[in-house]
Amino acid sequence: MHLSILLLSSLLLLPLSGASPPPFQHHPFPRTRRSASPQPQKLIEVTRPLPYDSLTPACSLPLFTHSFGNTYNLPPAAANYSSPLDCTWSNAVLQFSGASNGSQYDRISAIWLAGTELLRTSTPEPTPHGISWTFRKDITRYSFLLRCSNLTLSVMLENIVDDTYTGIFHINITFLFYNIRKSPISSPRKLIRNFPTASLELDQIPADLIIPVSAAGQEGFWFRIQSENDAVSREIQIPSNTYRAVIEVYVSAHGDDEFWYSNPPDYYIERNGLNITRGHGVYREVLIKLDGDVVGSVLPFPVIFTGGINPLFWDPIVAIGAFNLPSYEIELTPFLGTLLDEKPHNFGFGVAESIPFWLVDANLHLWLDDGPVRVTAGKIKYKNPNSRIQRESSFAKLDGKFRTVGQRDSESSGWVHSSAGNLTTRAITKLKFDNEVSYRSNGTIAKVEHEVTVQKQIEISMASSGTVATSSVDSKYPLMLKTATAAGSEAGNYEMSTDLEVSYEEEKKIDHFESQLKNKQKCKGWMFVQGHDVVSGSGATSQSYAVQDSHSCYNRKISANEGAVVSDAENFLCGGRGVSGSRSSD
Ligand SMILES: *[C@@H]1O[C@H](CO)[C@@H](O)[C@H](O)[C@H]1NC(C)=O
Ligand SMILES: *[C@@H]1O[C@H](CO)[C@@H](O)[C@H](O)[C@H]1NC(C)=O
Ligand SMILES: *[C@@H]1O[C@H](CO)[C@@H](O)[C@H](O)[C@H]1NC(C)=O
Ligand SMILES: *[C@@H]1O[C@H](CO)[C@@H](O)[C@H](O)[C@H]1NC(C)=O
Ligand SMILES: *[C@@H]1O[C@H](CO)[C@@H](O)[C@H](O)[C@H]1NC(C)=O
Ligand SMILES: *[C@@H]1O[C@H](CO)[C@@H](O)[C@H](O)[C@H]1NC(C)=O
Ligand SMILES: *[C@@H]1O[C@H](CO)[C@@H](O)[C@H](O)[C@H]1NC(C)=O
Repeated sequence: MHLSILLLSSLLLLPLSGASPPPFQHHPFPRTRRSASPQPQKLIEVTRPLPYDSLTPACSLPLFTHSFGNTYNLPPAAANYSSPLDCTWSNAVLQFSGASNGSQYDRISAIWLAGTELLRTSTPEPTPHGISWTFRKDITRYSFLLRCSNLTLSVMLENIVDDTYTGIFHINITFLFYNIRKSPISSPRKLIRNFPTASLELDQIPADLIIPVSAAGQEGFWFRIQSENDAVSREIQIPSNTYRAVIEVYVSAHGDDEFWYSNPPDYYIERNGLNITRGHGVYREVLIKLDGDVVGSVLPFPVIFTGGINPLFWDPIVAIGAFNLPSYEIELTPFLGTLLDEKPHNFGFGVAESIPFWLVDANLHLWLDDGPVRVTAGKIKYKNPNSRIQRESSFAKLDGKFRTVGQRDSESSGWVHSSAGNLTTRAITKLKFDNEVSYRSNGTIAKVEHEVTVQKQIEISMASSGTVATSSVDSKYPLMLKTATAAGSEAGNYEMSTDLEVSYEEEKKIDHFESQLKNKQKCKGWMFVQGHDVVSGSGATSQSYAVQDSHSCYNRKISANEGAVVSDAENFLCGGRGVSGSRSSD
């Protein structure tokens, strides 16, 4: 039996009866591994292979190689980027590879090109056997930047290396370019004439210009939001020939808000005299503001980093989104009536009810009309009521129940007159969340049930011909977490058993394209923590990933136990024929 060091992110729902509170900071702990294999462990995030994976790239650019040792408080590492010469390409992929060895926390990281975020990712925790991981992300939507030269690629990964934490992260980033378009790329003029029937999907018709809504960059290009009152913003003037605008938002939650969906309310903490800072209840909403008004918001998907909840769950299958955190799109075309005045406007972010800290930034994707028509735009309707949040609670001492439900319905519409005609864009969004945190057995058994549903609709119409394009994206992300904690014989010792279920479901209809995705993880395990170390523990994770769209299907069922994959099957069959055919797990 081999002991290796992992670090536990702060998550314990409550201090224990009769024991001093377990530390709410990350702390190191050894854990058991079934195999003492000297091979570095390969970690994976289960997702659908990219459509180009089987193709030979038209060209590939190894761009960045760096070892992140003691990088705390340092500016991001940088490399120069120039569009590949003599390479005809239509689609692009970012390949991220990492390796590490030693003891280390999970770390948050991001990659920016000229201040535009391409990827938000988190690192797995290394062990003395070493780990390695590699994954790919489609970055075709950033084509505008990828076709530019002399840009700076920046990679932020703050790490601390000392006598205790020895893991250095070795990172390679390569861009792969594919030419999969049969016909040569249409001229912008042709694209605008086909708008909006060609596609509303960012990856299908990438923007003509991307303006980052990001920070100065010395501490990374993300804005660090510490509290609800922290307002961060940038002044941006957009070109007066813009006919479509979408803002893409990247967010991640850290510190006392890393597990915001499980935080108890402050009055419960005070009444029970608990010495914890992880409070302020469970409602958080990332707000996107234009000239001070909320024009959209995000209820983030709960990405669990590899040190989170029970680190044994995430070996070798990491949590949904841990390597490729989702970004969130908000249609801003209805606001072009305000934005096309050749003046700078204030784009800002806030996180409602947040405690330290959140990392937020965004990319403004703009489509430009180079035709002869002067683009004009006007507002038709704008309704964005405040979120309605309802809270119910009942508790006696450490036991009780806290329910928080909320909803935000928004609608905006506006017209844009361009070479494509006079088009009205209407965007309707319904956000809902429902959360219940309960404690029983003197606070030793805790349960979190959290669910977000998002319904987004975009409709483009013309006075003469009615609706000409529509898009709808409905998503749902439930999370269920149950923990039972027993105090050990000495102060600070405890054993915790955990059940976790988290999933992401999405139904998309964009133009004539339809897709359905169900991605679900179920985890079960326990750990015994002594002081700052886990003396023993185990974790099992099973995941099913099923996607079906107008072109193809992909299914994978995989499970892991105590650090090893025990079953893994995938297929590309459509029509719910289930999963068959096993995959060699090397
Ligand atoms: C419940 O927990 C509190 C605080 O940890 C402790 O003081 C008390 O003795 C516990 N009560 C019971 C019945 O175990
Ligand atoms: C980028 O290119 C400039 C000019 O050629 C050079 O001075 C700089 O060192 C390069 N930066 C990196 C990170 O390679
Ligand atoms: C990075 O690339 C170098 C050179 O090709 C290679 O030796 C190294 O193993 C790579 N590291 C990772 C983490 O992929
Ligand atoms: C990891 O580090 C240990 C201790 O320095 C060393 O013995 C081991 O060979 C390393 N493993 C890998 C895969 O580099
Ligand atoms: C990029 O920088 C190089 C060196 O400074 C220069 O020769 C080249 O013209 C620049 N390219 C572009 C597209 O600006
Ligand atoms: C509260 O916890 C902090 C950090 O664990 C500790 O430094 C402090 O002494 C504690 N305060 C009380 C009153 O127990
Ligand atoms: C475009 O259509 C809207 C309403 O459909 C109308 O109010 C507006 O005046 C039109 N704009 C132009 C430039 O024709």
